Amino acid sequence: EEPGWIREVDVVVVGSGIAGLTAALECRGLGKVLVVTKDVLAAGSTPWAQGGIASVQDEGDTVEQHVSDTLIAGAGLCIEDAVRVLVEEGTEAVETLISRGAEFDRHPDGELQLTREGGHRRNRIAHAGGDATGAEIARALVHAVRAEPAIEVIEHALVLDLIPAEAGPDEPPAVAGVTLHVLGEGSRTGVGAVHARAVVLATGGIGQIYAVTTNPGVSTGDGIAAALRAGARLRDIEFIQFHPTVLFLGAGARGQLPLVSEAVRGEGGHLLNPAGERFMVGQHELAELAPRDVVAKAIMREMAAAGADHVFVDGTMLGEETWRVRFPTILHSCRQMGINPARDLIPVAPACHYFCGGVETDLDGATSLGGLYACGEAASSGVHGANRLASNSLLEGLVFARRIAARLREGLPERRPPAPDARPAGLIDPAVVTELQLIMSRDAGGLRSATSLDRAAEEMRRLAEKNGAEPGLEAWEATNLITVAAAVVAAARLREESRGAHWRDDFDRRSDAWQGHLITRLAESGPGITAGLAHEFVP
Ligand code: SIN
Repeated sequence: EEPGWIREVDVVVVGSGIAGLTAALECRGLGKVLVVTKDVLAAGSTPWAQGGIASVQDEGDTVEQHVSDTLIAGAGLCIEDAVRVLVEEGTEAVETLISRGAEFDRHPDGELQLTREGGHRRNRIAHAGGDATGAEIARALVHAVRAEPAIEVIEHALVLDLIPAEAGPDEPPAVAGVTLHVLGEGSRTGVGAVHARAVVLATGGIGQIYAVTTNPGVSTGDGIAAALRAGARLRDIEFIQFHPTVLFLGAGARGQLPLVSEAVRGEGGHLLNPAGERFMVGQHELAELAPRDVVAKAIMREMAAAGADHVFVDGTMLGEETWRVRFPTILHSCRQMGINPARDLIPVAPACHYFCGGVETDLDGATSLGGLYACGEAASSGVHGANRLASNSLLEGLVFARRIAARLREGLPERRPPAPDARPAGLIDPAVVTELQLIMSRDAGGLRSATSLDRAAEEMRRLAEKNGAEPGLEAWEATNLITVAAAVVAAARLREESRGAHWRDDFDRRSDAWQGHLITRLAESGPGITAGLAHEFVP
């Protein structure tokens, strides 16, 4: 489809979670700033975040301790410079968020209430509304953006592709903007193009490639897929974190499931196996508060040993009052299932939660393509390594969005003329999505092997043949899901070790040979989601 309209701006921010909205606010004054978002401003993953946002706030805590906890959780693959930036700039970034209106829970003396989650050796996680931290952050940032006349917003705008910039033979590849499909009535609806000097991708994660996930329906990897198609380098995409404790709604449940925050364990809750025994004690010095990958694997082992499809969180010792004040969101989800967590055990199982990899960036959010920046879950800034530390993701969104804006304030890239756009050969039939999710959960989820990944790759090729769908939101989402799923399967197949969130049945140990990052990119530029992938291992 040819664009029906063209807009010229200086900075276009794609996505409206904590990363995108912070980037937009920080880019004020850099000319015309436009935020485009697939749904409404307040949709996306940020409002679902429960546990909170980690940063060094407490006098007993130190930068070194937060850095160390992050590196340990990351299982040897964090980029230490990026982690230092995250932690050193994190305290101030949270203060700025507070100054923008986010109200965190405080003690009567005004100090922030700080809790603990898996992998943290200190209390450093600020929360809001008990367990509704993300919702409060989203409320404050949406309000701040709406109050800023210099920031324009287009909602219901699906980004289709990045527009390649014309580049001379010796010039590195660059982007000149994005193509959009805007739903609704008016002169700026349908397919259009936004030409920009800088494109900031903040499109979030990919949870919808799996059958069960904590991610909302909009998390279909649109930015990741568009970046891949445009030739950007992706990094560490085989590391997909499964949250250990997601409310178990029955064997047939599909789609987004309610989270049971690690903060429940941080406040004293236990994990029990189907026989009613605590199983984390003795497995790790932090017991139920071990890093997330350790807990998720232990749960999967307990479930396999008992032939069960769930285990339990026991939060009965917290009492009615704590449940009501501290965990109102989880209490509500439990009540809908007829569970009173102050009296009953909560059935839980792991589900896809977070994409640790993403579009490779430097410390200022710059990607391998000129004019393209990425932050938040869509980016691989290097802070998460093979397994993200709990509550570091909201922080990453804040810190690296600020750094992108700081880089752009030093000088916006030159405006580049757009080159002819390479579109996918055919959009995928949305009817394949359910099958894709079930295949990914079965063969490329928490536990993988060469056999299961080869089968998944074959299935992805088969599903990719079902192309030729009419353009539209669902066909684009299906195309992006299969693009990202196929790339994840290929990277997971290559990494022959178990490390962090990547757990291989056939290589059950960490291997020194794999101490490094796997880059995934398009083998040859050109249209078509079936164009081959190229990989590079960076020790
Ligand atoms: C949780 O509240 O358990 C999730 C926190 C996170 O994913 O960082």
